[in-house]
Amino acid sequence: MDGSQKPRNNEILPGERAELRNPSSSKQRFETLKNWETDKVQRDTLHLKACPVNVCDRAKCNGSVMNPSQMISDPRNESRSPEDIVQLATDFIDQYYESAKRFKSEAHLNRLHEVKQSIKGQGTFTLTEHELIFGAKTAWRNAPRCIGRIQWNKLQVFDCRHITSTAEMFEAICTHLKYATNKGNIRSCITFFPPRNEANGEFRVWNPQLIRYAGYRQLDGSVIGDPVNVEFTQICERLGWVGKGGRFDVLPLLLQANSKDPDMYEVPTNLVLEVDIKHPKFDWLEKMGLKWYAVPAVSNMLIDIGGIQFPACPFNGWFMGTEIGRDLCDTTRYNILEPLAKQMGLHTKNNSSLWKDKAVLELNISILHSFQSNNVTIMDHHAATESFMKHFSNELRLRGGCPGDWVWLVPPVSGSTTPIFHQEIFNYILNPTCYYQPDAWKLHTLKNRDQKVGKTKKIHFKELARFVLLASTMMTKAMAKRVKATIFYATETGKSLTYAKILREIFNHAFDAKIVAMDEYDIWLLEYESLVLVVTSTFGNGDPPENGETFAQALQDMGNGDNESSSKKFDSVNTVAPLQKRVSFHAKNTTANQDNTSEEQGILANVKFSVFGLGSRAYPNFCAFGHAIDTMLGDMKAERLLEIGEGDELSGQEDSFRHWAQNVFSAACDSFCLKEDVNIEIANASLSNTTYHPSNYRFKSVDIAAEENITGDLGKMHKKHLSSCRLIERINLQSAESKRSTILVKLDTNDSPLLDFEPGDHLGIYPCNQPELVDGLISKLEDAPAKDDVIQMETLKRKNTHLGIIENWEADVRLPPCSLRTALTRFLDITTPPTPQILSLLAECAQDENEKTKLKVLSEGSFAYEDWKFQSFPNFLEILEEFPSIKLSSSLLLSQLPFLQCRYYSISSSPNYHPGQIHCTVSVVSYTTKGGSGPVHHGVCSSYLNRIPAGEKISCFIRHASGFRLPKDPSTPCLLIGPGTGIAPFRSFWQQRIYETSSEAKVNGTMALLFGCRHPLHDHLYKKEVEEAKKLGVISHSYTAFSRSPHTPKTYVQHILENEISDFVFDSIHNRNGHFYVCGDVTMAADVNRAFKSVLVKNGMMKEDSDNYIRKMKSDNRYHEDIFGVTLRTSEVTDSVRKHVRKNSIKPL
Ligand SMILES: Cc1cc2nc3c(=O)[nH]c(=O)nc-3n(C[C@H](O)[C@H](O)[C@H](O)COP(=O)(O)OP(=O)(O)OC[C@H]3O[C@@H](n4cnc5c(N)ncnc54)[C@H](O)[C@@H]3O)c2cc1C
Ligand SMILES: NC(=O)c1ccc[n+]([C@@H]2O[C@H](COP(=O)([O-])OP(=O)(O)OC[C@H]3O[C@@H](n4cnc5c(N)ncnc54)[C@H](OP(=O)(O)O)[C@@H]3O)[C@@H](O)[C@H]2O)c1
Ligand SMILES: Cc1cc2nc3c(=O)[nH]c(=O)nc-3n(C[C@H](O)[C@H](O)[C@H](O)COP(=O)(O)O)c2cc1C
Repeated sequence: MDGSQKPRNNEILPGERAELRNPSSSKQRFETLKNWETDKVQRDTLHLKACPVNVCDRAKCNGSVMNPSQMISDPRNESRSPEDIVQLATDFIDQYYESAKRFKSEAHLNRLHEVKQSIKGQGTFTLTEHELIFGAKTAWRNAPRCIGRIQWNKLQVFDCRHITSTAEMFEAICTHLKYATNKGNIRSCITFFPPRNEANGEFRVWNPQLIRYAGYRQLDGSVIGDPVNVEFTQICERLGWVGKGGRFDVLPLLLQANSKDPDMYEVPTNLVLEVDIKHPKFDWLEKMGLKWYAVPAVSNMLIDIGGIQFPACPFNGWFMGTEIGRDLCDTTRYNILEPLAKQMGLHTKNNSSLWKDKAVLELNISILHSFQSNNVTIMDHHAATESFMKHFSNELRLRGGCPGDWVWLVPPVSGSTTPIFHQEIFNYILNPTCYYQPDAWKLHTLKNRDQKVGKTKKIHFKELARFVLLASTMMTKAMAKRVKATIFYATETGKSLTYAKILREIFNHAFDAKIVAMDEYDIWLLEYESLVLVVTSTFGNGDPPENGETFAQALQDMGNGDNESSSKKFDSVNTVAPLQKRVSFHAKNTTANQDNTSEEQGILANVKFSVFGLGSRAYPNFCAFGHAIDTMLGDMKAERLLEIGEGDELSGQEDSFRHWAQNVFSAACDSFCLKEDVNIEIANASLSNTTYHPSNYRFKSVDIAAEENITGDLGKMHKKHLSSCRLIERINLQSAESKRSTILVKLDTNDSPLLDFEPGDHLGIYPCNQPELVDGLISKLEDAPAKDDVIQMETLKRKNTHLGIIENWEADVRLPPCSLRTALTRFLDITTPPTPQILSLLAECAQDENEKTKLKVLSEGSFAYEDWKFQSFPNFLEILEEFPSIKLSSSLLLSQLPFLQCRYYSISSSPNYHPGQIHCTVSVVSYTTKGGSGPVHHGVCSSYLNRIPAGEKISCFIRHASGFRLPKDPSTPCLLIGPGTGIAPFRSFWQQRIYETSSEAKVNGTMALLFGCRHPLHDHLYKKEVEEAKKLGVISHSYTAFSRSPHTPKTYVQHILENEISDFVFDSIHNRNGHFYVCGDVTMAADVNRAFKSVLVKNGMMKEDSDNYIRKMKSDNRYHEDIFGVTLRTSEVTDSVRKHVRKNSIKPL
């Protein structure tokens, strides 16, 4: 049988083993391992990558040697050449990039080069934080003696390589213990102190474990306490420690920094969780006064990651019960076996009575019982060995092997009753590796003669107490440096970014929080994050905002374990968790102590997260993208700190956000054990504090030339590559009888390559505000600089320095230098009703008490605000008219108003048919507020395009819509559905097909257009062009639904779809694998979707199957939607949704 046909899990089929072991066989490189219980034979290939040194040598097996020399790293015997380090480093960097599926990528090669250069120049290199995390996890994964390795990916790494003193080491260890203990729900973590190199000197934790009990040697040679720690206890005593002389006294920490003499610190008692040992039945056992600590944190081992050695890197997991059993029973330890057996009434003279076995068993039962009844994590040896077997099999499948030290892995009791006993395992050393090292005091010569071992250095208790106090106050600050919180956002209109910034404010009270746009993040770093917060809106019809698309796709691929991007298109709606999954979160959270030992491991097992979704309930797929991210992270076993928050723009979005932000901050502090150290109230206050104060702003005149490049400035502000087009001409597409306007806008691209596009793409346009509104607003300002003077706003910054507070005026980079008029015309949004936060600032500026009170009520963001906002939809000028006593300064507007956002238009021309041009079909928006009784409002962008003269420059960019494309094969049937301006992109489609038929002699298939408008004589857009296209055979069928045609019933596109062309649609789409396109308003798109389902059902499909059918069409890229938003009957739709939300009191959290 050929190697390639082998089962993937490295399993060997019966009879194969002999063949593989046969030296003449070509496959002899495979070493096989047999399980004697199941007869399963597997091959190990990973050992081929082992370090050349091996635990055993040619002449003998060292399997039972406690500390074989190969596993000891002793600086006295080691001399590593730069070549050795280069080899180790290269191997490690290769592993790192291989794990990230970036092997031989440019980043990999660059990093290798950088590392080699650094070793050449400085003899060493610095691991990046991500490499350190990867290295730590891999060292654990490689540790042959550890039975709990199934958890290897779930390790919290505290990077303390920056610290320089023992005081900082001490507080880092306090943080470590606090995090690890987690009120008994033990978590694995590791703290890295600076690595060994000449610059750092040597850092060591002299204690073998962070928590251990003292052993006091008595004059008669006996020991009170733990005999294993007698030598270390004596060292502590010589350095001035005075123990209480009890059996379970926690030893102080002896910490060494920069090769200096060690300093001693008492472990704060509140950080030492201990469990009193009781038996479930034998009450007398409690009286033996036994106890044990909860966190086993090894602190004397060295970890080598790619040639970088960390001699101080305490780490912990949790106990397996038999380990404590041995600590208490071994004759060289507490040696309680005989007294225990006697208490049990056993005869201890005769070993064959198995009294030892009986006593050990009852003690192990007591240990498990005591830990479990105190909700402290512990594992019994059966569960531990079974989980190891699972890990072993996973590792053979994923890695081709799993090094293991059988002698250590088989538990000290009941060995043959556990599955490991029967499993052959190879032992070998892989880098990154954990090494033993000589005791620190054997390597260190005390420099301070007074402190020399043998002489007593008195550290008074007061002094120790001071250290402890200092440490706990430093804790929060230090933690903030160590735990990073990454806040991801994706946004279309900027709100998610604003919220992300507010979230950063609150999280910076306890964490090192940073904001990252989803499209600027390398997804393979995600597994190295500790705390992830996501703030994102939903766009299209349940889709990600544009800058969330690649992140979503990459996350989906990561979840599928795909190496490369899959062809399956990301679809939020398909990804969203079924309800029961979400419900189970509540159930999980109500249990007091979640089980941390769960074997279910996912790639993101170490990541804690929560998501806030922004959306609008006017859309059928409310917050779908936020939910999809939440589901994907959860499915990859990231730990959900708090259920997703939802912010409905039609109802209390800000309120919901603040509520979620407070809760998630509190949950994160809880999870990282920071709650006692953070003033949650002060942190929460940062959610409502606005930082604006007029005296912190001033204006400086700037050379007028600074304002020359507005398109460039807009590009910088919005992080987009913008170009300018010029208006060629504008044509009204509605007839003279119509009171409304839909305009065809023709633009000249000046052949800018940035404006290359394909049919289906959008044009993003940055409009100008109406001049009347801008002038009106400027006239109401208290301190307006001359409106055409070019100014730069400056902000007063205060810095704490050793000379006191220093104040400096710095240019405010939010806006480029420009005139007030330009800022209000081009850069700032003056028409969207202001947020409650801005209203609270306006309340401060109101001189009249009644106005102040009303503004304050509105600024609470309650129902009153929502009603006011949606009825009046007031622009800024109207607010100043409604509250005339407001004394408004220009700096408030310039510093607080949100940016004016671009508007998208589905391009209505083909680049081949009209080279150098872009056409848009624009419905000119105007509406009266207050249900028809208020003033007329004009849409910013559509009225701008309807106003500007030919030749005017327009700042714009192309937004590629890769999901909205014509099929490559022109004979594939296409059904195009677009009422009103929804026809826009289809004009580019038929123009493209006309071009292709004339120039490439392509054969056209079925292209059917289903259009809808009000009246045949008013707004039948592109009627003539469609007729032309039909004549040319490009459009095969066209149908029009008239909704306000006299003497005919109101008809919409979905009615025609369902009632008139059902068979034709089924044949084109189902039988002939056609493509389905919908463009325009979201409610219409949902109605069309329903109608299409009913077409499928009418033609014999089951209802449930029709849902799946459309889902599949979407993922196969055959069902395309181009959604403009809620554009048809806007106020009617939004009012009814708001009423529904309020009636049903839908509360987000
Ligand atoms: C992907 C995409 C493609 C698009 N393609 C096109 C296209 O091809 N053609 C096209 O015309 N549009 C298209 N749009 C819509 C377009 O982007 C703008 O939203 C539209 O032109 C209005 O912008 P505006 O600046 O003129 O109006 P704005 O100043 O943005 O005013 C519109 C806002 O006013 C409010 N409003 C509107 N009507 C009412 C009402 N009756 N009562 C109360 N409040 C109301 C709503 O809050 C609405 O959002 C598209 C949108 C998207 C997202
Ligand atoms: N962002 C925005 O707010 C925005 C953007 C673009 C356009 N608009 C507004 O939209 C209107 C013009 O848009 P338009 O020219 O594209 O379209 P339109 O002319 O208003 O409508 C096109 C057709 O669609 C029908 N229709 C309404 N609701 C429908 C539904 N749920 N399903 C199917 N068809 C439906 C209309 O019927 P009836 O009207 O007779 O019911 C009409 O026959 C203007 O009022 C403009 O202000 C707003
Ligand atoms: C064209 C368009 C499509 C939208 N689609 C959805 C949607 O499918 N589901 C939803 O909940 N909200 C949808 N919304 C509402 C936005 O998510 C909401 O306005 C949000 O507050 C925008 O946040 P942002 O500024 O961060 O993008 C849509 C908004 C627009 C303009």
